[in-house]
Amino acid sequence: MRTKLVVGNWKMNGSLSENKALLNALIPQAHEFSSMAVGVCVPFPYLSQAQSLLRNTSIAWGAQNLSHRASGAFTGEVSGHMLTDFECRYVIVGHSERRALYVEGDDVVADKFIAAQAVGLIPILCVGETLAERQSGITEKVVARQLNAVVSKAGIDAFEKAVIAYEPVWAIGTGQTATPEQAQSVHAFIRNELKSQNASIAERLLVLYGGSVKAGNAAQLCSLPDVDGALVGGASLNAQEFADICRGAISR
Ligand code: PGA
Repeated sequence: MRTKLVVGNWKMNGSLSENKALLNALIPQAHEFSSMAVGVCVPFPYLSQAQSLLRNTSIAWGAQNLSHRASGAFTGEVSGHMLTDFECRYVIVGHSERRALYVEGDDVVADKFIAAQAVGLIPILCVGETLAERQSGITEKVVARQLNAVVSKAGIDAFEKAVIAYEPVWAIGTGQTATPEQAQSVHAFIRNELKSQNASIAERLLVLYGGSVKAGNAAQLCSLPDVDGALVGGASLNAQEFADICRGAISR
């Protein structure tokens, strides 16, 4: 059985004082989540703060992006090694906001995935279709393309130490969540795609759902056979809501 994982994606939100209040409200509840894994992916400047507040807790921390390069003259970029200096466990790669707003293509996403693993970070690879793609009936085609771009470059064995997040773009920050049937169908598709290459890796792989996850829908989504937890944006900025999502996700 796969252990559930819930990760907060703070995006470009927070401040030293807000983060402290949020984490200090979350930490006392962390003991309730001992049967699962919980993490927060924070903006780069707050990694040090997350490290010092979360170090002795069961809550992991990570970043939302990294450079696909190791070091050098790349102004404004942050390398995987810099993230490990702050003991990050996770890094999100290929989030739809990065794909759409910062024009990160499948190839660069694959390079970022590889760069993350090269320094021991666990990449959380985001895949998902836009509303127009879903309406044209090409959801599986899009997800397969995003997935296979990484599999063909990194190799199937790389998925032993990776997480996938299925995030339908139309559900992100919109309050519109995929129905349980829609989520399960794409999650099963992702697992089956990988199963054809390595059944045991595919069986162990965590596939999270993301897109307007809240306390009210987390339990239902996370109880689906191929949904192994959640990647949570907006609702992760509220300690109580995030803790309730974790409670909902706990394996039953
Ligand atoms: P949301 O974002 O929960 O605010 O929809 C999810 C994500 O983008 O990871």
